[in-house]
Amino acid sequence: MPKSQITSDDSVVGSNQNLSRTRTRRGTEETRKSLVLLISLVFPLVGFFHLTISSHLPKFYAVCSREGAKIYTVDDNNTVVQCLVVDHMFIVDTGSLAEDISSRWIAKLASPLSVRYINRGSIIVPGLTDSHAHILEYGASRQLFLGDTKSVEEIITLVRQYISVNADMYDNTSFIEGWGWDHLSWSVKEWPTADAFESDLVVRDRAVVLQSKDGHALWLSKRALELSAPLPREIEGGAIFRRENGEPTGVLLDSAQSLVKKPGLTERDLLRHFTMTIDDALSLGLTSIHDAGYRPVSLAFFERSIQTWQIRIYGMRHFDEKGPYQGNLSTPIINAGNGRLNVRSVKIFADGALRSGGAALCTPYWDNPEEKGFMRIEEQLLHDVVIQYLLDGWQVNVHAIGDCANKAVLDAFEDALQYVNVSALRPRLEHAQILTPDDVIRVGRLGVIASVQPTHVTSDMWYAEERLGPERVKGLYAFRSLHDNGGILAFGSDFPVEDMNPLAGFFAAITRLSPDGTSPKGSAGWFPEQRLSREQALRGMTINAAYASFAEDRLGSIVPGKLADFVVLLQNVMTIPIDRILKTKVLATVIDGRPVYGYI
Ligand SMILES: *[C@@H]1O[C@H](CO)[C@@H](O)[C@H](O)[C@H]1NC(C)=O
Ligand SMILES: *[C@@H]1O[C@H](CO)[C@@H](O)[C@H](O)[C@H]1NC(C)=O
Ligand SMILES: *[C@@H]1O[C@H](CO)[C@@H](O)[C@H](O)[C@H]1NC(C)=O
Ligand SMILES: *[C@@H]1O[C@H](CO)[C@@H](O)[C@H](O)[C@H]1NC(C)=O
Repeated sequence: MPKSQITSDDSVVGSNQNLSRTRTRRGTEETRKSLVLLISLVFPLVGFFHLTISSHLPKFYAVCSREGAKIYTVDDNNTVVQCLVVDHMFIVDTGSLAEDISSRWIAKLASPLSVRYINRGSIIVPGLTDSHAHILEYGASRQLFLGDTKSVEEIITLVRQYISVNADMYDNTSFIEGWGWDHLSWSVKEWPTADAFESDLVVRDRAVVLQSKDGHALWLSKRALELSAPLPREIEGGAIFRRENGEPTGVLLDSAQSLVKKPGLTERDLLRHFTMTIDDALSLGLTSIHDAGYRPVSLAFFERSIQTWQIRIYGMRHFDEKGPYQGNLSTPIINAGNGRLNVRSVKIFADGALRSGGAALCTPYWDNPEEKGFMRIEEQLLHDVVIQYLLDGWQVNVHAIGDCANKAVLDAFEDALQYVNVSALRPRLEHAQILTPDDVIRVGRLGVIASVQPTHVTSDMWYAEERLGPERVKGLYAFRSLHDNGGILAFGSDFPVEDMNPLAGFFAAITRLSPDGTSPKGSAGWFPEQRLSREQALRGMTINAAYASFAEDRLGSIVPGKLADFVVLLQNVMTIPIDRILKTKVLATVIDGRPVYGYI
């Protein structure tokens, strides 16, 4: 190979393990951030553009490893290669430097091929996808984040601090919103009440609305309850907790959450929430996010702002039972904004969540023989709209947790077979948590995508058996069974419900252990027969997620012809001991051939 034809450029994630260099890089990163900050102060909208200084990365370049094959392509054979070649936005070749790449390119090129090398120990994987997340809600949740709190008192303290340090909150009519409490992780495992806020001199009389970790419960202060009054006696698909005298206690479940009257988000709020989410996502190696369509306001914002982002979004249109049927009124959005935005699916809720007791089970909860949970939508209506949307060509993504909810959805998909080729429309079960053995088989047979969140396994494993009983629990998060029966697993995190880091999902899927290496069934993992292999887990975050969004011809693997979305990871998560996986950092995130985080 003619050496002179190759310029080797180590300035990026090159083979420098030398710390001063790493520090310099950080320094540049800081400078870059302040520059962005400065510009965003002057022109608020410009904050959207990440200024990327990629040290003259040419439009045509190769990225290679000096240690042989370290690029996990996730092609059909899970091939691992030494180099990838990028031309503008696209991957144009993969293979070994000395043979494939030099013979195919070096002689043809007018100027030397620029080759970047990744660090020793590093690997490249395709751009990662989160197949189920809530983009704007994550940003909102980071304003007053209550995850990891262990008591009501601790939360009241955080609310007080939030009011004290936020100038926006000095006005006592402003709404205080937070996210992330979980009464099951408190020492007193009881639902909180509105009274709790009244004991604090700063917080009392303020309108406070705090969302639970799973997004299925709201905890309101007295003032927030007053502003939302009058509440109906009961609500279909939800619950209003009340005292014996009928007064609401301050907790609203599932569809009752929509009864809260609070001010809408301003454009400034939306932008702040969005930017916070995307910055975190890119730093964690995410190049695509499937937004699980909680609120219509999100989609409207995405459409307005699309020209300015650095990430790909696959949107699920929110299904509003009370609104007009949208399947024939609205048109799918295909590859808007240079392929960054696609919306051709609808998100429908079948039931609630396991944690809050809203998952619709076929037989009562093991720990509460009076309760079977509830459907959030009338079953006949669910059946009809699922089929109607499929007929109109939409992908139908249904939130289904309990075995009865999953069954109802699969019944509708199966009935739709009379009219349409269901597997071609790639319908999805969002969560697909509790399935009967028959329905595990049906998922594969019907070509349904199981859109699962591996970190839910390790969050729920501590209480799931108590709630479901020893038999039914085996059908909860049965990932390996789903896979072995032909089901396609697409991974997500459900952020802000769980940690956004895709490697947390990867770790949970292959170990079924808490980050500290424990599980209720010991150190081999919770139902270890349901663990996935590392290759299977990587596919869940890449090619399967692309398939789940009709993007496998453009995204999801490092294959010539596809868009150049890839991630450089500091350590080889495909081979290192499991206890090092969660410590693995992202060195660079590349979209359309250009770094949007870090450097190559
Ligand atoms: C995968 O391997 C099979 C059998 O070796 C081969 O025929 C096929 O071309 C390979 N596919 C890819 C994408 O490399
Ligand atoms: C807010 O503060 C004003 C002025 O201190 C006071 O008059 C008013 O009653 C307060 N409102 C609420 C809801 O506490
Ligand atoms: C859309 O479908 C609904 C229900 O099937 C129907 O009533 C309505 O007329 C349709 N609208 C259009 C524009 O086709
Ligand atoms: C249904 O669609 C799938 C996937 O596109 C295809 O492989 C299959 O041949 C189709 N089945 C029929 C009966 O057309």
